[in-house]
Amino acid sequence: MMEHAGDLRDGFGRVARRLRLSVTDRCNLRCVYCMPENPRWMPRDSVLSFEEFLRLARAAVGLGVRRVRVTGGEPLVRKDLHVLVRGLADLVGPGAVGLTTNGYFLARQARSLSEAGLRTVNVSLDTLVPATFRRMARRDGLRQTLEGIQAAEDSGLRIKLNMVVMAGVNEGEVPAFGRLARERGWEVRFIEYMPLDGDHAWERGKVYPAARIREDLGRVGPLVPLGSDPSDPASLWGFADGVGKVGFIASVTEPFCEHCDRVRITADGKLRNCLFSTAETDLRGPLRSGASDEELAAIMLDAVALKGPGHAIGLAGFRQPARAMNAIGG
Ligand code: 5AD
Ligand code: SF4
Repeated sequence: MMEHAGDLRDGFGRVARRLRLSVTDRCNLRCVYCMPENPRWMPRDSVLSFEEFLRLARAAVGLGVRRVRVTGGEPLVRKDLHVLVRGLADLVGPGAVGLTTNGYFLARQARSLSEAGLRTVNVSLDTLVPATFRRMARRDGLRQTLEGIQAAEDSGLRIKLNMVVMAGVNEGEVPAFGRLARERGWEVRFIEYMPLDGDHAWERGKVYPAARIREDLGRVGPLVPLGSDPSDPASLWGFADGVGKVGFIASVTEPFCEHCDRVRITADGKLRNCLFSTAETDLRGPLRSGASDEELAAIMLDAVALKGPGHAIGLAGFRQPARAMNAIGG
């Protein structure tokens, strides 16, 4: 396909085609891998409005971005999120808008999101055991999440589940999630625990490697690799009998940075060229002081051009970013 001059290209030849918008740092849960127990929220007036997100998304689309994912924090704490989803669907097409949510508020919002053009929802679900839910999310909410998933299905949305697997916490449930993939037809994506938690308590020993997850799933049934798009962080596998699909996001043990095509905008309007970057570029200031589309585009191009080769988890120079995941956006 023709690439236009304005592509968001970095110094390693990668081109950003997917944009993630973190629309709030707030969340009703407190997952241990994602935020501290008592986060200090961003002041409300520093969080971008939907109009502001749409303006930035439009600029990014003008620079070759083709897909947009809405994340948080928990995006559904913004009750009229369907308004943003509609705007994004108008921009990139309904099939190219994604949403990552904890599912807690889906029961009341699934219908409006579906009507706004959303087709698939990625729901974070790490456990089917209430006590483990409370341990990982530091709050109750399993029932609401499962009801939310059901409502999403009833509204015609396709379901993908994200399970962060933490060694010694929920790895015993990997086979149960494999069976969910088979019995419910939900694509389950198993995610390695990354050093983006709020307490900086991450240790290598708490990562449950994708290779082990694949072994554990072998007890449910043999798996075969399905060809996957190299820029998709998940490597896709299917059960050999054709029933059930699973994905592995092995950020720690099998990094995929060389194929990364993502760029992120935080709730307070900073462009981050990588989850693990320690620098960010302010877009909110220029946006609110009347920058033109061309000026915004120039800032984005410069910020992506400076993207590093990828994360250095496990290497000597690694520094965990100051922001936790809830303030970056998964
Ligand atoms: N490691 C891996 N995945 C994480 N997520 C949040 N924090 C982490 C982490 N430290 C994932 C959650 C959610 C998405 C928003 O990001 O599973 O699905
Ligand atoms: Fe992309 Fe950075 Fe994640 Fe690597 S660590 S995949 S470069 S966002």
